[in-house]
Amino acid sequence: MEQQFKRNIMITGGAGFIGSHVVRLFVNKYPDYHIINVDKLTYAGNLANLKDIENQPNYTFVKADICDFDTMRQLMEQHHIDGIIHLAAESHVDRSIRDPFTFAHTNVMGTLSLLQAAKTTWEALPEGYEGKRFYHISTDEVYGALELTDPEGIESPFTTKASSEHHHAYGSKFFTEDLKYQPHSPYSASKASSDHFVRAFHDTYGMPTIVTNCSNNYGPYQFPEKLIPLFINNIRHRKPLPVYGEGLNVRDWLYVVDHARAIDLIFHEGKVADTYNIGGFNEWKNIDIVKVLINTTDRLLGRAEGEDMNLITHVTDRKGHDMRYAIDSRKLQRELGWEPSLQFEEGIEKTVRWYLDNQDWLDNVTSGNYQRYYEEMYSKR
Ligand code: NAD
Ligand code: TYD
Repeated sequence: MEQQFKRNIMITGGAGFIGSHVVRLFVNKYPDYHIINVDKLTYAGNLANLKDIENQPNYTFVKADICDFDTMRQLMEQHHIDGIIHLAAESHVDRSIRDPFTFAHTNVMGTLSLLQAAKTTWEALPEGYEGKRFYHISTDEVYGALELTDPEGIESPFTTKASSEHHHAYGSKFFTEDLKYQPHSPYSASKASSDHFVRAFHDTYGMPTIVTNCSNNYGPYQFPEKLIPLFINNIRHRKPLPVYGEGLNVRDWLYVVDHARAIDLIFHEGKVADTYNIGGFNEWKNIDIVKVLINTTDRLLGRAEGEDMNLITHVTDRKGHDMRYAIDSRKLQRELGWEPSLQFEEGIEKTVRWYLDNQDWLDNVTSGNYQRYYEEMYSKR
């Protein structure tokens, strides 16, 4: 069957938040590519995220663990895989603080298992690495944390400004591609380690790799343990909004579809062995995001705007809480012409609307173990 397709691409973690947007984009945009989604379906992976494309003829789902080298090797051979977009990972910082082993296992050993499977498969072919690509999706958190200084810095270069009113920077320093890695959390340490392995496979064996480091994503299908979907759901149900510390930490937010668009562009046109930062020059203090979420959710629910401000509850801060993330993505704009497609206000409006319209999805993914996690995680704060 593979012969009829122009390319056979394995996307790992395709049932998760970002992965499902990447799978959807590739399946719809490239009917001549066979997209093989490999996902273990952990608590964070949901096939409901892909209902709209699951019957497409160019899509195949395989439930498998990336740490299982033999299965990865067999899948690559069986499907004549020539491109890998690797998103499968444990992704939540708070969980990594409680259970670092799982993060080292999946993120480090899983990535290594996938790299080794690709290496042995591709090196056995007559053409070797020609026409192949191993694209590893990473995070800006590997660069560590920036300080809060005067709200100034690089002007956003994008024609679509992140926001019409809100200023976009909370400091003069930004993460650039050449910055030294300084991860602080077990999550970011595991991602940093996996990035090093990917680059080592290029430098040692000549594997055509690419790494990208993206800022915080938001949008539909994000698991509601992360700030934005968790808070939208809590506002709807008038549950307390657990803001860590004073809520002054800054994150740089990008709409998930814009990340998927960047991944498509870089997969096809990015330079082998290179690194690209992806971000929208869109920094927000957590507390300001929370206020936007309350106003938007209240308005869309027909409540008085701001009626639910009293739900804000300051709780014990996260251990080792990174103060500020801020991505300089000018290289990606300069070299490949990428820009975000929408403003933050539009993205947040779409996102809140999506969660309000998809309560079934939320109820479905938060049933079972998640309830226990939530109680344990927040009862101690
Ligand atoms: P997610 O937690 O929503 O999804 C992860 C997916 O990986 C799930 O479908 C899960 O079932 C799958 N998975 C986990 N362990 C697996 C294993 N051993 N084998 C196979 N599948 C497994 O994560 P996300 O937010 O979509 O993030 C995807 C990737 O993007 C991650 O590598 C993450 O580090 C990176 N990233 C995320 C963000 C963000 O803001 N969410 C930002 C930058 C980079
Ligand atoms: P999160 O969505 O977990 O992403 P990350 O830690 O990878 O940036 O958190 C975003 C920010 O929101 C982060 O500074 C921690 C904060 N936060 C809260 O204040 N309360 C919460 O319940 C959660 C989940 C996060």
